Amino acid sequence: VTLEELPTPFLAVDLDALEHNVAAMQARVPGRLRPHMKAHKCSAIAWLQMAAGAVGVTCSTTDEVTAMAAAGVGDLLLASVAADERRLGALAETAGRARVTIAVDSDEVARRAARAAREAGATLGVVVDVDIGMGRNGVASLEDGVRLADTIGGLPGLELRGVMAYEGHLVGVADRDERLRRVREAFALPLAVLAALRDRGFECPIFTGGATATYDAMPELSDVQAGTYVLMDATYDKLAPEFRHALAVVTTVTTTRPSGRFVVDAGAKRIARDLGAPSLGPGFEFVSTSEEHAVFQALDGSAPRVGDRVSVVPGHSCSTMALHNRAFGHRGGVFERALEIDARDPLA
Ligand SMILES: Cc1ncc(COP(=O)(O)O)c(C=O)c1O
Repeated sequence: VTLEELPTPFLAVDLDALEHNVAAMQARVPGRLRPHMKAHKCSAIAWLQMAAGAVGVTCSTTDEVTAMAAAGVGDLLLASVAADERRLGALAETAGRARVTIAVDSDEVARRAARAAREAGATLGVVVDVDIGMGRNGVASLEDGVRLADTIGGLPGLELRGVMAYEGHLVGVADRDERLRRVREAFALPLAVLAALRDRGFECPIFTGGATATYDAMPELSDVQAGTYVLMDATYDKLAPEFRHALAVVTTVTTTRPSGRFVVDAGAKRIARDLGAPSLGPGFEFVSTSEEHAVFQALDGSAPRVGDRVSVVPGHSCSTMALHNRAFGHRGGVFERALEIDARDPLA
């Protein structure tokens, strides 16, 4: 079966590019890669990363944690804060079968997590989440980090395993040297928290953070949470050109104009628009999306013809994967295997 035989629109994953990316990141941070599977929500891809030597997997939702555990991944980090009983109960229950570590940023969440762990008869690992400027989750000072660690240390059911921070507000800094310098600067706070916790006798084997465009900023990290590198997209290709585009939405041209403007049969319901514009590469300009259509302009005026297939590289691969049930893995256009996107929220 070739991709030409599949009805558009569909997600195509270039397995050669994917495998290149898996190996390339693994080689750059050997023994320290805990890939963020929010980038694909696909246990088959997570297993390729594990087989290449990842120390475990990072997740952003409780459903991802439970799906990864069901797929047999034994060491899971939830890099988000879960606060409600349903999620904490599911995490604690999963901790009975896998090593589960979750981010915590308040006494209240720590107490709730401890209660859930005790009820499940399990131990939940926790990392103190430190906000380094993104303004999302995390404690914002050394004092708060140390106080939270003391709370965690006194709660049966929890085991303090380390410190986490995420530099999401810096990953888009265009100049690479400047980006890495600012990340190192921002990590002064979690480094100080880590040192203070170790001084207090907490072992803290985990120091985690990092991303596709910043994986080499902090050699101190034990667990690098890079995610997007495995599929890449039109936003990240400028930030981390050492990785290849592996993901495309294959579409059919439905309408052309003499000006070189043309329309394809996939829009915002198939190609996520939350981070950046989709791309057809040099020679084409993105114009707009509506729900089921995307409009492009051929810069030299020569648009493809009606019925032609064009592969659109999404502006954000992670959110694009979350819009689909499966992707079609291929080599050079020859279908090889379906990749079920099996860690989406079943209640969504
Ligand atoms: C907490 C956390 N860690 C790591 C990442 C990975 O970032 P990237 O996809 O840029 O590799 C993200 C991305 O959203 C994140 O939220």
